[in-house]
Amino acid sequence: MDRYRIEGGRPLKGIVTVRGSKNGILPILAGVMLTKGETILHHCPSIADVHFTLEMLEQLGCRIQKQNRSIIINTNDCKNIDINSKSVQKMRSSILFMGALLGRFKEVNIGYPGGCEIGLRPIDLHLKAFREMGVSIEEEKGILCCDASKCIGQKINLDFPSVGATENCILLATISKGHTTIYNAACEPEIVELQTFLNLCGANIKGAGTECISIEGVQELHGAEYTVSPDRIEAGTFLCGAAITKGEIELKNVCADNMRQVLLRLGEAGCIIKEQKDSIYLKAPQKIKPVSRIHTGPYPDFPTDMQPQFMSVLTLASGTSIISETVFESRFKHISELCRMGADITVEGQTAIIKGVKSLKGAYVCGRDLRCGAALILAGLAAEGETVVENACYVKRGYEQIEKVFTSLGANIVLE
Ligand code: UD1
Repeated sequence: MDRYRIEGGRPLKGIVTVRGSKNGILPILAGVMLTKGETILHHCPSIADVHFTLEMLEQLGCRIQKQNRSIIINTNDCKNIDINSKSVQKMRSSILFMGALLGRFKEVNIGYPGGCEIGLRPIDLHLKAFREMGVSIEEEKGILCCDASKCIGQKINLDFPSVGATENCILLATISKGHTTIYNAACEPEIVELQTFLNLCGANIKGAGTECISIEGVQELHGAEYTVSPDRIEAGTFLCGAAITKGEIELKNVCADNMRQVLLRLGEAGCIIKEQKDSIYLKAPQKIKPVSRIHTGPYPDFPTDMQPQFMSVLTLASGTSIISETVFESRFKHISELCRMGADITVEGQTAIIKGVKSLKGAYVCGRDLRCGAALILAGLAAEGETVVENACYVKRGYEQIEKVFTSLGANIVLE
């Protein structure tokens, strides 16, 4: 069961409810390790990255119960264990357990993280910030041995507004002594979500969503009940699916304010978009228009996680568009595959020049990371004939049964 088979050419039509956010829930699950007692999370997406993180929590002694889309986690019997390289390499966000476990147990041994290969993705910013807060970190055979017994709040200046480094600093500072201020913090909605959750648990964090976050350390956190926010990248992917197939869809459970750049660009491409409180309606044009140059960047700029999917849409535009990827250096793996489907894209360094073509042709293509796989599925939905997208495992990391969602909207797609 590792590939999608798609018969393209059917417009996506209908209503779909957006699931809980992958990048929202992952740091929250790490944050649960800071709490004592029971936490109940609602609207959790059933995706591989969440399943894997829950396995890690179980290894750490959490008791976990699932009820439909809710997950109940009891941390009363938690113990500190070494998180080996194998676990951490499965998923980059497991590095967030470094901040969370250091906060709770004051020491942790953890391997270097893995995840989708979309660039070098070092963790130097995480380590620099931790060291500034007084954490001693020694590396032994690829394992980071960290001791936070002398950790104290500090003024931290991130050289780049890294999402993960911001989250890791918040996690550590939340139950450390003293006051921490993070400057040049990432402003992503998922940071706000982490702040909201931790404050519900008794933390004292202010400023998330701005470049300056201040954290007054508290002694301990208790459990809380929290509903995970809608996934803005899943929502954007579905909208792009409707745009590329000349479809018409309505998304429910969505926050348009968190998706401004994507909505603006879909509008520029000729889509009619109507927003209501928790819903977005999109009707695609008969022909996609090219858009002015897109640069991906930290929030609120255009999200790098939507770049591949949006590029698929632009392959069918009535002119040329340009996308520069400024966040990750290897996030163009979809391009060679899109070209196999008849797209006309050239790359100059970190910039892709996309000349719109009349149509895409079905082909055998390979998803090489999560969003690359999603972009190829979208291209397959619009292409003439059959497309096979290999490596469904990547897509399953971040989308819950995407084939069922698209089938419910009228597409012909199966997972096999
Ligand atoms: C998070 C998201 C991911 C998204 C990315 C950027 C999660 C689970 N993942 O990833 O979906 O694509 O934000 O929006 O939330 N960097 C360094 N040193 C560091 C840390 C980062 O050089 O210590 C670089 C990275 O290599 C990358 C850039 O900074 O080029 C952005 O990375 P970062 O914001 O940290 O992304 P993640 O937290 O890994």
